[in-house]
This record gives sequence, structure tokens and C-alpha cells, in this order.
Amino acid sequence: MSLQELFPTRVYCAPLQRGATAGLNRQMLKEGRQLRADDAAGRRWSQKNYPGGYTSYASAHRLQDMSPTFAALEHRLRPHVTAFAQAVDWDLRDCRLEMTDCWINFMPRRTRHDLHLHPLSTVSGTYYVRVPRGSPGIKFEDPRLDRFMAAPPKSARCRVGNRPWVTLPAVAGQLVLFESWLRHEVAPNPVPAERVSVSFNYHWFQAR
Ligand code: NI
Repeated sequence: MSLQELFPTRVYCAPLQRGATAGLNRQMLKEGRQLRADDAAGRRWSQKNYPGGYTSYASAHRLQDMSPTFAALEHRLRPHVTAFAQAVDWDLRDCRLEMTDCWINFMPRRTRHDLHLHPLSTVSGTYYVRVPRGSPGIKFEDPRLDRFMAAPPKSARCRVGNRPWVTLPAVAGQLVLFESWLRHEVAPNPVPAERVSVSFNYHWFQAR
């Protein structure tokens, strides 16, 4: 018998680095809070599009160019993005993956992030800065879901790779990477403490 697994969907999870990340996380938290205080346009945008929370997505979305702290994050993410590119067999000899966007998200109690994808990007991901106990993970949706016209229900013991939705826990100091077309969401934060993450996009460019 030959049962092949074709067209897999890869999600990459790893600690950012071998050593402790507490210092980097503290600094990102400090700068993120300052940005939130200064960024009236971002707070207005968040009120409409990220109720209760603050995201710099629409106002300060190239943090890697604004701050050495976020530039350091970009530097530390690089080997992970390279490993992901190898896992999906992209040929990067004549092109390079470059971080195009990097923004911070503060998610207090009851704030959620609706189902979405990251259009016009290649690789997207999130680095977790602060994850209070009980705050939500990231939930991915099977990209073939709209084609399962006549599929029976899944068994209660369904393997993770066969589930239509999979939630991966958020862990401070860890990152998650995925291809940007993969839809994902974050459920409302049920705990009275802010969950803080930094999200980012990469695009590929022809080598000069
Ligand atoms: Ni996202």
C-alpha cells in the first residue's frame, strides 16, 4: 500500500534564540507602549479595526527601520525564515526574502483578531513578547476547507495534521512562521492582562 501525503501546509514554530529573551522582550514592550502613547493615528485606526486593542499595523508598520530593538528582532528572525524557505523548497539563489512589514499588537481582555490572511506577502509570522497565562494561541484554518463538499465529520481522535482547524499556543520568546496565504485568527483574550505580539511579513525580491 502507498499512502502519500501531498501538498502539506507548513507552520514553523521555534524559540527565537538559544539564550534568554527576557531583555529583548522587556525593551520591545517598553518601546511598544511608548509608541502606543505617541501614535494617535494608530490608536484611532485600532479603535475601528482592532476594538479594545492597539496595533501599529496601519501607522508604524516598518518598526525594523525605526528602532534598533526591532532591527535586532529582524536579525534574529533571519535564520528561521531561511530554514522555513528550505522546508518549502524555495530556490533563493537568485532572489532574497526581505522583511517588508513589522508591527506590534497589544491585545487586552476581550480583544480578538478575526480570520484573515496577509495578501501580497510571501511569509508571515508572529513573535510573542508577552503571553499572560490563559491568553489565546493562533488558530489556523485548513486552506482546502471550502472544497470539502461531502466530507464526513472527523473522528474525536483525529490527528493534528488532519484537523480542519489547529490552534498553536502562544509562548513568550517563541515565533511562528507560515505562508502568507494561510488564514488564521486569534480568539478573544479571556484574561485581564495584555497579550503582546510582534507580527511581520516577508516578500521575495529578485537579487540585484
Ligand atoms: Ni495575521
